[in-house]
Amino acid sequence: MSVMNTNAGYGWPARMLHWVIVALIIAQFVLANMAESAESRMEMFVLFARHKSVGLTIFALMLIRLLWRFVNTQPQLPLRTPIWQRHIAQTTHWLLYALIFALPITGLLGSAASNFPVTWFGIFTVPAMIGPNEALADLFHELHEIFAVALFMLALLHVLAALKHHFFDRDNVLRRMIRQIN
Ligand code: HEM
Ligand code: HEM
Repeated sequence: MSVMNTNAGYGWPARMLHWVIVALIIAQFVLANMAESAESRMEMFVLFARHKSVGLTIFALMLIRLLWRFVNTQPQLPLRTPIWQRHIAQTTHWLLYALIFALPITGLLGSAASNFPVTWFGIFTVPAMIGPNEALADLFHELHEIFAVALFMLALLHVLAALKHHFFDRDNVLRRMIRQIN
């Protein structure tokens, strides 16, 4: 199994990071929705605490992923993929990266501004970067929600594109994110 990416495919660390982060992002949407429809304040508090811990985990994994992307080559799209699709793919990927960073940052700032602590599974507490401030709390909560909706829409576009490659173009773009292709 190859560690590094090649022009034709992804090494196992890039594939593993992709799928682990996908699973954790899905968990984030589920946890946020469960928290919002919780029946007691205690239940809501516990679910949001978990949402924050998983969000911090995503943040750490994304830092590793970004670093990994910079020290690796990016597999090329098939030669017959039109140039406009290459541009959309590249823009979508960078926007996805930007949103997955923006979400934990606005989450952290929103919690700090609301004077709510953030711990990583109760093991350590993240120091608040800003003091309590109602106006900023509203702003960061609003931004967090907008970014979450944007991430959802872009991820949907991204999944449709992956399925199009697989079923219509019949190339190995989806396959190479699943297994080793050299
Ligand atoms: C990639 C990571 C994350 C994703 C995908 C995500 C997603 C979401 C979603 C979908 C909601 C519900 C939106 C709404 O109706 O307000 C939400 C709410 C919330 N999230 Fe996150 N979140 C992430 C990371 C974080 C982190 C790291 C924190 C805090 C450290 C956090 C704190 C909160 C809080 C406090 C709320 C409820 C209040 C609000 O709307 O801002 N989130 N998140
Ligand atoms: C939350 C959901 C998702 C996010 C945020 C996401 C994000 C990304 C990003 C940023 C890349 C660029 C490559 C990299 O830097 O690692 C990528 C590549 C890819 N993703 Fe996703 N992804 C998601 C879900 C999915 C799903 C569900 C599928 C399959 C149906 C999928 C299939 C692919 C494929 C095939 C590539 C490789 C594209 C290429 O080689 O040019 N992704 N994804």
